[in-house]
Amino acid sequence: MVIGCKDTFSKVAGKGITMLRSAGIEVKVDVLKEESRELNRRFFVFHEQKRPYILLKWAQTRDGYMDIDRTVLEEARPTWITDDWARRMVHKWRSTEPSIMVGSITALKDNPSLTVRDWSGKNPLRIVLDRFGKLPHTLTLFNGKTPTLVFSEEGTNASENVETIFLPPQANPLTAVLDELYSRDIQSVMVEGGSILLKTFLEAGLWDEARVFTGEKWFVSGVEAPVIKQKPVSWEKFGNSRLFIYRNKSLS
Ligand SMILES: NC(=O)c1ccc[n+]([C@@H]2O[C@H](COP(=O)([O-])OP(=O)(O)OC[C@H]3O[C@@H](n4cnc5c(N)ncnc54)[C@H](OP(=O)(O)O)[C@@H]3O)[C@@H](O)[C@H]2O)c1
Repeated sequence: MVIGCKDTFSKVAGKGITMLRSAGIEVKVDVLKEESRELNRRFFVFHEQKRPYILLKWAQTRDGYMDIDRTVLEEARPTWITDDWARRMVHKWRSTEPSIMVGSITALKDNPSLTVRDWSGKNPLRIVLDRFGKLPHTLTLFNGKTPTLVFSEEGTNASENVETIFLPPQANPLTAVLDELYSRDIQSVMVEGGSILLKTFLEAGLWDEARVFTGEKWFVSGVEAPVIKQKPVSWEKFGNSRLFIYRNKSLS
């Protein structure tokens, strides 16, 4: 028998291999170790680092902006940087990650659904950071159509399918979110912005992968996109934009 890589999950960790060997079966281990760990990277990060795999995702213009300067609800919808191809791809990604997160300003300005609409599959658990309870209950995130977690120092949100997790005032919000997801057995989170939230994940070194669409537009000013100070591991032309993939080298 050949085994791609060992399962490091403490409840398993080589026990099956020992059983097979003691039953007289020849077992070859780690035959495709790197490839197997890559394929199951969410699982390994979850069990070894005791937190979900963190996938950052955003779209930026050629000059590095995520949005134009825009006051809340000044414009009904954000200005699109990419096209339908990228949007469909993002929905496909959403369908494969169990949770998705945004900051309160994105929730307020963009009023996103964070659901899978341009692909088929399950909606991820929606997560929003709203420390001071400023988000109105009329936002799409609170429509109860898919489970949603709000991390807040303020009260409870009693609407159906919307759960408020109390965030102690001195708590580090990122740690609180990651611990809560870990306790719920959620193996990955896709962070979809905005800039402040993405930057805090990057600055804390709390990220595993980043997928960045760079479109053809120039905004000249606006919401500055995060900057990753390392080279992408790959890039490809994607519709009217380019998709850059980064992996957190400090973790490898
Ligand atoms: N192009 C893209 O891919 C994309 C994607 C998403 C958003 N956007 C754009 O980005 C803009 C919004 O981004 P933004 O950077 O202004 O705000 P944001 O990251 O959406 O939200 C920031 C807010 O979230 C909470 N928060 C986030 N991280 C936190 C942390 N580590 N600790 C404590 N609180 C934290 C804080 O709100 P509280 O204090 O209220 O908790 C903070 O003020 C919008 O214009 C939107 O259209 C673009």
